[in-house]
Amino acid sequence: MQWLLCFCLSWNKTGAEIRYTVPEELSLGSVVGNIAKDLGLEVSEISFREMRIASVAGKQYFSVDLGKGELVVSDRIDRESHCGQSASCLLPLEVIIENPLQLHRVEVDIQDINDNAPHFQSSERTLKIAESTAPGMRFSLESAQDPDVGDNSLKSYTLSKNEHFSLEIKDQDDGRKVPELCLEKALDRENKARHQLLLTALDGGSPVRSGTSQIIIIVLDNNDNNPIFKHPLNKVSLNENTPQGTSFLKVEANDLDDGPNGEIEYSFGDHTAQSVKALFEIDPKTGEMYLKGTLDYESTPSYRIEIIAQDKGMPEMEGQCNVQIDVIDVNDNSPQISLTSKPSPVRENAPKGTVVALISARDPDSGDNGKVTLQIPPSYPFTLEPSISSHYALVTNGVLDRETFPEYSIEITATDAGSPPLTSKKTIPVRILDVNDNPPRFPDTAYTVYVNENNTPGYIICSVSALDMDFGDNAKISYSILDSKVQDVSVSSYIYINSDNGSIYSMHSFDYEKLKVFQIQVQAKDRGSPSLSSNVTVHVFILDQNDNAPAVIYPSTVMGSVSHQKMPRSAKAGHLTTKISAVDADSGHNAWISYRLVEATDSSLFSVNLYTGEVRTKRAVSEQDDSSQRLLIEIQDNGEPVQSATVTVNILLEDGLHEPISDFRQKTAEPSKRNSKITFYLIISLASVSVLSLLTFLILVVKCVRNSRSSSSCCIRRADSDGYKNPNRNLQLQLNTDGPIKYVEVLGGDMLSQSQSFRSCLSPVSEFSDFTLVKPSSTTDFQDMINVLDASLPDSTWTFESQQVSID
Ligand SMILES: *[C@@H]1O[C@H](CO)[C@@H](O)[C@H](O)[C@H]1NC(C)=O
Ligand SMILES: *[C@@H]1O[C@H](CO)[C@@H](O)[C@H](O)[C@H]1NC(C)=O
Repeated sequence: MQWLLCFCLSWNKTGAEIRYTVPEELSLGSVVGNIAKDLGLEVSEISFREMRIASVAGKQYFSVDLGKGELVVSDRIDRESHCGQSASCLLPLEVIIENPLQLHRVEVDIQDINDNAPHFQSSERTLKIAESTAPGMRFSLESAQDPDVGDNSLKSYTLSKNEHFSLEIKDQDDGRKVPELCLEKALDRENKARHQLLLTALDGGSPVRSGTSQIIIIVLDNNDNNPIFKHPLNKVSLNENTPQGTSFLKVEANDLDDGPNGEIEYSFGDHTAQSVKALFEIDPKTGEMYLKGTLDYESTPSYRIEIIAQDKGMPEMEGQCNVQIDVIDVNDNSPQISLTSKPSPVRENAPKGTVVALISARDPDSGDNGKVTLQIPPSYPFTLEPSISSHYALVTNGVLDRETFPEYSIEITATDAGSPPLTSKKTIPVRILDVNDNPPRFPDTAYTVYVNENNTPGYIICSVSALDMDFGDNAKISYSILDSKVQDVSVSSYIYINSDNGSIYSMHSFDYEKLKVFQIQVQAKDRGSPSLSSNVTVHVFILDQNDNAPAVIYPSTVMGSVSHQKMPRSAKAGHLTTKISAVDADSGHNAWISYRLVEATDSSLFSVNLYTGEVRTKRAVSEQDDSSQRLLIEIQDNGEPVQSATVTVNILLEDGLHEPISDFRQKTAEPSKRNSKITFYLIISLASVSVLSLLTFLILVVKCVRNSRSSSSCCIRRADSDGYKNPNRNLQLQLNTDGPIKYVEVLGGDMLSQSQSFRSCLSPVSEFSDFTLVKPSSTTDFQDMINVLDASLPDSTWTFESQQVSID
């Protein structure tokens, strides 16, 4: 009905007789108008007159309903195809009526309806935009087409909502509206690499029709992201002994960029030290780190390495991270001992705690691996005292004795507390300095020297020597003789000592008969400060030589004269006529006197006792015998060479002379008053001499025993020791050292027997002379005695009884 209304309104006669207005796209059969009526024709007339429509355009859109006289749509009318974009669309029609032929022009104004939606040529459009593009940039888009006209034509565009782009419409010269994409906000490929927008074109029809186009924006990558490491600081701990080639860390960086812009290459930072580069390695592709060299905690306990990750963009970008490598100490260093000060020699009397050396111990390892303890063997008289930090003082801790240990080699052991612990050793030599703490020592407590009498002065009679354990001057000994008196004369006039080597010289020719023994004190003194000394006694025994001839003391005769004796003729055989007594100043065998009758007037009448010197008659005197008998008696000693004396006795035989001298043997048998007195004195003197001798003997035995313990260096000088062959002789020497020696008695024989033996060295007549007491001793003492004597006495001078004794 609306159309009809329009039809009515749009009716005008300009240009054409009749104009109809119809919208396009009317359905077939739709009535446009009653043309018959409008032309003033009758409905019956039109069929009769064969009314028909001739299309000017050629195509028949309309036809006439001859029955009703109506112009109806006979074909689809699409305004857009007919008129395009022109604003008005008139379809000129010619109505032909025959009988009579009439031609009427009719126009049908085709009105647009919104039958076309805006339409894009391509449903999808791809735009590539670099992410670096600055906001404000515009990108033209395809405009949509809408064949409709007027309000139904394209009116506006809309863009799907997004934050980066806005839509702007640009009016072209030709009136077209061109949509433009305007970049509002910078793109970030890494954030969103592809944007999808929907562009919608809208027309102004009612209802509105629209068309859409997909706009795909691909954001082109720009190298705007640097590689970024996952961890800015990577910490790793490595054992010091980690083997070479070990992979210990993998650093990882990410680059959000694409393609080469995101391809990462790892390397060490520019300022990485060469030493680090020599030690570590990084795989440029994977970022894996390897140990290339050998770690040493002691030189570098930790490393901090800058790692660079670089992409391959243009320009390239880089990121960095740090790797901290902490080296874990392994006990790979043995402790070191060093001497802070040179070990100083220490005096042997140094007090406890004297510092000998300063020692320091060091271990480059750390922690327990570097904790060092020092030790020295406990046997040394030293100890270690800790001082500041790892320094120690080696101090004395005991008694030092240079004489026992002149030098110590102290082995110091250093041990660390690692596991397993490492040790090292150092030997420190410590010299002990001498202190004069040892006096010179003689190997023997006493020396015994035997010197023949009549020796040549100036001979070495003996050498003493002492030893000093000390060193240097402290051990240099000088010898001297301590002054004493020998028979009221200073000993220095007898003896001289070489102060350097202890050789003792005699300065005298000794006479046994005057001096039999003397002692000297030798002092050995070292040169220490203060000096020390010791003394030793040297017993000098003068050995007897047979240098005295026997001297006749009875009958006393003036030299050269004759002794006159008387005897009765009535004397029987065995009558003691007289007794010759002689003495020998020598001693021992040199004084052993024998008597021999050399010449006699009548050798059958008298005999002389070899030992006693008694002159006795051999037979009874007869009348025929001369009244004067002359006897020449020789007295010999037992020395070598033999010394002798002679005495001449004249015996006068007298008749009737009463025997003046009774038989000596009978006389002694019966005690007379005088004899008993003598015996009494004799007993007393014997007893006292025995006691004295015993004492002396014991003292001597003790001394000898001591001597024999260290007998190797006993100073003994043997003057004439040729032909000495009998080492087992059983001898005993008895010395009377109480005052000047009186006698030496040498005995041979069975010393185990308990008998006592007395012997007079002088005449048996002189009863008050000295006696020698020889007592048996124990076998060991006896043996010692033998040794002393054996070594000292020349064999040839002794011809007494000897006996082999085996002592066991
Ligand atoms: C001691 O020195 C003297 C003189 O130099 C020398 O004659 C003597 O033999 C020496 N004695 C010793 C035991 O060396
Ligand atoms: C050695 O003898 C002298 C003199 O008799 C004496 O002064 C000194 O003390 C003695 N020395 C020793 C070590 O006995």
